[in-house]
Amino acid sequence: MPKKMVSSGVRKKLERAAAKGMKNAYAPYSNFRVGAAILLTNGKIFSGCNVENASYGMTNCAERTAIFSAVAELGPKIEIEAVVVTNDHGVACSPCGACRQVIYEFGPDATVFFQGPAGAKQAHITELLPEGFRLK
Ligand code: THU
Repeated sequence: MPKKMVSSGVRKKLERAAAKGMKNAYAPYSNFRVGAAILLTNGKIFSGCNVENASYGMTNCAERTAIFSAVAELGPKIEIEAVVVTNDHGVACSPCGACRQVIYEFGPDATVFFQGPAGAKQAHITELLPEGFRLK
């Protein structure tokens, strides 16, 4: 089945949700606030922010916060249709490798919108994460 396109109206809604999510960021170490919003195939939107920790490696990125919030609220059967990422520096920011794997887990056909080095970009999750890991 051909992939459903994310309309510009829905994308704007996701951008607003990501920007709102970013306001809750806890980023005292990097001072780099990130917001993410995910659109599920059931039409629901969840947002998230980065949550840092004095033990830096414990930091949770905005994308994973949004996805884990959706699972916590709706259960494990969620399917991600699209992801939007934004940051408060207006700089390029694509999902990190760990987040790509988590997006892939719940959205093997997801479209990801983010800021690339030359402005707004969109990519299929499998372009960002070729041969993502699957147990089943
Ligand atoms: N970060 C995200 O939340 N998402 C990304 O896509 C890239 C990086 C966060 C992690 C950390 O809190 C801060 O940005 C600086 O790396």
